[in-house]
Amino acid sequence: MSNDLKTRFLIVDDEQSIRRLCVTIGNSLGFASFEADSAETALARLETDAPEIVLTDLKLPNLSGVDLLRQVKALLPRTEVAIMTGHGSIESAVDAMKLGAYDYIEKPFRVERMRLLLQRMAEKVRLVTENQFLLDRVNSEANLDGIVGASAKIQDVLRMISRLADTRTPVLIVGESGTGKELVARAIHFRGSMARTPFVAVDCGSLVPTLMESELFGYEKGAFTGALKSKPGLFQAANGGTIFLDEIGELPLEMQAKLLRVLQEKEVRPVGSNDRATVEVRVIAATNRDLEAAYRTGTFRKDLYFRLNVVTVHIPPLRERRSDIPILVHHFLERYAPGENVQVTPAAMKNLLQYDWPGNVRELENCVARAMTLGDRHCIDVGDLPPGICTESTGSGSGPSDPSALSTTALAEMERMTILRVFDQARGDKALAGKMLGISRATLYRKLKRYNISLKPSAAQGAGTNPVAAAGTSPPTQ
Ligand SMILES: Nc1ncnc2c1ncn2[C@@H]1O[C@H](COP(=O)(O)OP(=O)(O)OP(=O)(O)O)[C@@H](O)[C@H]1O
Ligand SMILES: [Mg+2]
Repeated sequence: MSNDLKTRFLIVDDEQSIRRLCVTIGNSLGFASFEADSAETALARLETDAPEIVLTDLKLPNLSGVDLLRQVKALLPRTEVAIMTGHGSIESAVDAMKLGAYDYIEKPFRVERMRLLLQRMAEKVRLVTENQFLLDRVNSEANLDGIVGASAKIQDVLRMISRLADTRTPVLIVGESGTGKELVARAIHFRGSMARTPFVAVDCGSLVPTLMESELFGYEKGAFTGALKSKPGLFQAANGGTIFLDEIGELPLEMQAKLLRVLQEKEVRPVGSNDRATVEVRVIAATNRDLEAAYRTGTFRKDLYFRLNVVTVHIPPLRERRSDIPILVHHFLERYAPGENVQVTPAAMKNLLQYDWPGNVRELENCVARAMTLGDRHCIDVGDLPPGICTESTGSGSGPSDPSALSTTALAEMERMTILRVFDQARGDKALAGKMLGISRATLYRKLKRYNISLKPSAAQGAGTNPVAAAGTSPPTQ
């Protein structure tokens, strides 16, 4: 293994024999080990070697092990520090734990104990780093640039998300298939103070009925054939965070009753167990079915419906917010052909705007992905769209045959108005506007130029002022 991938371990002690022993143990665990005979030398090594694990004697010549601990925590917050103590200095070791030490070990120690301590510390560092990486990835996917749209309807949804993000209120997200229900659920969780707690998504529609209960609530060893050891359920995995119950309308009545009990009592009883485990989870449910109609016809429990539906977020279908289509198309182009500056002909865009999108945003995304796979990647024209989408075959962008159809000029005006509106909402912040529109900075600048939009110099500050000045009233033809 290259040194870059090894766990970096620093041992600090003024006794050479102890340092030697610890370096040998560290090396045998596959660490890259470094040593220092004083806190001062150790501090110098913090910068050069950035150790992930530090083991320090409590008593050192000048600065103490506790002084070193403080400095390590300030400089390298994710580094774990353990303290070695001599006989009779347990109290100081306990104080060190309060300051964030991982553990302490008494001298003289057995080699096996030291090995175990170092192993546990390395495992903790690995888990924390891994979690942070996942969290960063999820956050970057679920932050502002995850949900794209400038229509008034999607802006309402975004406002609801911000309002709900810091609460633990149960939320029911309703919307047709592909409208972005899961995206919204993740945004509610990850944009708020809960971001660092677990988010567990459960697709109730795809759970096998016979395994549903054990999946959700866990099972005890021996509960059924094949249950060789106990396993916690998804509710326990989500403890302290959010459980996202997708397709809640698909849950059979029997499971609905069990779910209701868990929500009321905040306790789960694993299959085959007599004990209950407390679970504190925020529930976000989603459905594309009309649950109100379902409880009237008796296929969904009314009491569960009211428990889940404290707040409803309704995501309108794409055909009711067509002004989001150009922005979404650019967003997906950036996703599937980043930096390639793919153009969409006015005729192709006109077809995209007129189509009804029964599969909503997901269908639009697939349509862009398909065009990128099958087309020339420079330009999307009518011929690059699936046949069902095209009502017009004119690739040149000439006038529509249907008088009610949108003209090219109307399309350009729609895009221009969208950009103006987004700039207004972003108070002139170009980076934010770019994110909201789901387009790169370069594309944004090109569009500002094309539509002759200039920004007032003071745009980013004054709240409430319209930061956008649009020169020229008629949109240019493309
Ligand atoms: N406003 C949006 N901005 C950007 N991407 C979106 C938006 N809405 C949906 N998407 C994308 O569309 C796809 C479908 O979204 P999602 O899975 O959240 O929909 P859904 O409502 O849960 O669908 P289903 O009912 O089929 O489960 C995803 O790839 C998602 O990233
Ligand atoms: Mg979904």
